[in-house]
Amino acid sequence: MSPFRITRTLPEDASRAALRADVVAGLADRPRSLPPRWFYDARGSELFDRITRLPEYYPTRAEAEILTDRAGEIARASGARTLVELGSGSSEKTHHLLDAMPDLALYVPVDVSESALRGAGRELSGRRPELDVHAVVADFTGRLELPEGPGPRLVAFLGGTIGNLEPAERERFLRSVRELLSPGDALLLGTDLVKDERVLVRAYDDAAGVTAEFNRNVLRVVNRELSADFRPELFDHVAVWDPAAEWIEMRLRSREAQTVKIPTVDLVVDLAEGEEVRTEVSAKFRPERVREELGAVGMEVTHWWTDREGRFALSLGVVR
Ligand code: SAH
Ligand code: AVI
Repeated sequence: MSPFRITRTLPEDASRAALRADVVAGLADRPRSLPPRWFYDARGSELFDRITRLPEYYPTRAEAEILTDRAGEIARASGARTLVELGSGSSEKTHHLLDAMPDLALYVPVDVSESALRGAGRELSGRRPELDVHAVVADFTGRLELPEGPGPRLVAFLGGTIGNLEPAERERFLRSVRELLSPGDALLLGTDLVKDERVLVRAYDDAAGVTAEFNRNVLRVVNRELSADFRPELFDHVAVWDPAAEWIEMRLRSREAQTVKIPTVDLVVDLAEGEEVRTEVSAKFRPERVREELGAVGMEVTHWWTDREGRFALSLGVVR
């Protein structure tokens, strides 16, 4: 068995307090919103895994193609002995990278979803029994305290999850990643690229309705954790492309006028027919923006890889 440890830096009550604060700030405000990190309870993580296998959802396959082709180059360019992965989920694609790093001393998957981390740990113990894996349940937008490991250190942030952060949050996040690193360490960043609007909208509004269920799952989380009485079936899933911001927005649209009670935070939300709650942005990138944003925090993009159709990019930002 591989040495698998898991550390919880997000105690249950701190996590519930954070949800309460987000619900009050997001639902009392106009336009109403909920941050996407609350999608990922055990059911949400499972729904996301189903999304990654949908014919319309190309980012996972595109990124896996890059990793399959380039894992050796990434391993050589980073020389990593410690791999930290933020928002690691099932760690499925990471296996390509781990296979190309036989001398890796430590793998640190970090996620808010403990169920996803435990599932990934089980899978890894079969595939890499000798690898030291120290999973951390944490919010990557907060202050991260990570286990020590030998350098060089590579932080991987895959899947395009950086696009789920709003611009100001993204800048704060990149600065905090930079602070985790020393000169010569690197960030491996997955970014989905700007493309035809129809392809993008289809990827976030699949025919089988899995993304719609994933979207509504946030209401189930609020119901369970905060004793709210959302009726998810009274909300339609909406995915729209915002050409100015260059992001897809997911929203939940109230089918009728309704009142939702959230007693644990003393909130009563009156929703008009057609009123929307924004649940996620998923920004799409151009190469210049990635270079600029990493440059602004002291990282130089030394490598830029895309899949053969140019849909998705992996970049390596090295700390100067
Ligand atoms: N990296 C995987 C999973 C992407 S899904 C892939 O590329 O397929 C996004 C993952 O980030 C989920 O596992 C979710 O639980 C996690 N996540 C979302 N917001 C988070 C946050 N604020 N802090 C830590 N993990 C987060
Ligand atoms: C995790 N993240 C990169 C996904 C995305 O594509 O923005 C989450 C997702 N939302 C809807 N489908 C998938």
